[in-house]
Amino acid sequence: MAVNKPVQDSWRAQTLAVRGGTKRSEFGETSEAIYATSGYVYEYAEQAEDAFKDRVDRFIYSRFSNPTVDMFQDRMALMEGAAVGKATATGMAAVFASMASMVQAGDHVVGSRALFGSCLYILTEILPKWGVETTIVDGTDLNQWEDALKRPTKCVFVETPSNPGLDIVDIKAVSALAHKAGAKVIVDNVFATPLLQKPLELGADIVVYSATKHIDGQGRCLGGMVLGDADYCENTLKPFLRHTGPSLSPFNAWVMLKGLETLDLRIRRHCENARQIADYLETRSDLVKVRYPGLSSHPQHELAAAQMTDFGSLVTFSVEGGKERCFRFMNALKLIDISNNLGDSKSLMTHPATTTHQRLSVEDRESLGLDDGMVRLSIGLEDPADVQDDLDQAFAAAAKA
Ligand SMILES: Cc1ncc(COP(=O)(O)O)c(C=O)c1O
Repeated sequence: MAVNKPVQDSWRAQTLAVRGGTKRSEFGETSEAIYATSGYVYEYAEQAEDAFKDRVDRFIYSRFSNPTVDMFQDRMALMEGAAVGKATATGMAAVFASMASMVQAGDHVVGSRALFGSCLYILTEILPKWGVETTIVDGTDLNQWEDALKRPTKCVFVETPSNPGLDIVDIKAVSALAHKAGAKVIVDNVFATPLLQKPLELGADIVVYSATKHIDGQGRCLGGMVLGDADYCENTLKPFLRHTGPSLSPFNAWVMLKGLETLDLRIRRHCENARQIADYLETRSDLVKVRYPGLSSHPQHELAAAQMTDFGSLVTFSVEGGKERCFRFMNALKLIDISNNLGDSKSLMTHPATTTHQRLSVEDRESLGLDDGMVRLSIGLEDPADVQDDLDQAFAAAAKA
């Protein structure tokens, strides 16, 4: 007999991260099992018919559902405070499915400009090709949201803090405006993680993640998640996922389950280390600007403090002297890796203007404050003193040449 201890209402986030969603098999395994199977068998043909006609709830095919993936979905839903979570193969599959499952030609969608490049591409290139009209606003300007939401709107897409500029969008205020326009609010909560910001409690309707980032947190595999209410997830999102097939593999779901178990520990340390590095960077006179939502110099520090419990692992700064000196600085790093990934235990640095955001026009990059000297630094779990030493020596090397 399986030994399954039911989730208690009193369990706190960290307990849910370790135990939520666990479903033990008859073998009573301690750790969640990996159900590496594409299909499931039936004793009788009638059982298959009942399953396909939705007369019984059971596993049919792993493109639709899988027990390991289910555990990951249930754990995430419990942590997020959402009715349902649906996993996807990547964060982009989650972002795309969250919108594509609900829109049709003639609909209007509003998004903030400060988005990860591929998210902006969906809004400005893919959806318009299908007859969906999109309006892009400065996410930090409530007047622009108000103007854009004067007309009926299907959904609103925001990322906060944003990649890479760390802009903060006021989730509560935007949700209130969006709901008046009949729109569902989707928040890409990648930089905050389920531990630092609860968009649903602030009024949003749907939360999306790239689980590739802090949820795995150790740079091993890709994954995504969409979370929301039962009606949206079961009646809108589920058929879209089932028939288009961006399913998460059971192995990757298992890695994510294990990642969630240590998320709280890692995020506390990431935030502590990032704070230390941001404070250090602010003391350097050779930087044009340092951005970290936890610094009082961040233009939206108060809003960040009101809607987040801590400020995350990402810091951005601009190296004076533009691209050339910036590349010299990056090439001199001896510990921090040059990589466009983030949320990893290893500290990683990217130059957004030539990588993640290279598709944007110069004007768009300028409007996001994304200059040629800007780097995004994802602070890892190394000793922050070593990260600081590495930055120090790389600044010195870049200044010499
Ligand atoms: C904010 C944000 N959303 C979505 C994604 C896409 O996630 P994935 O790479 O897992 O598809 C990323 C990836 O960097 C991201 O930073």
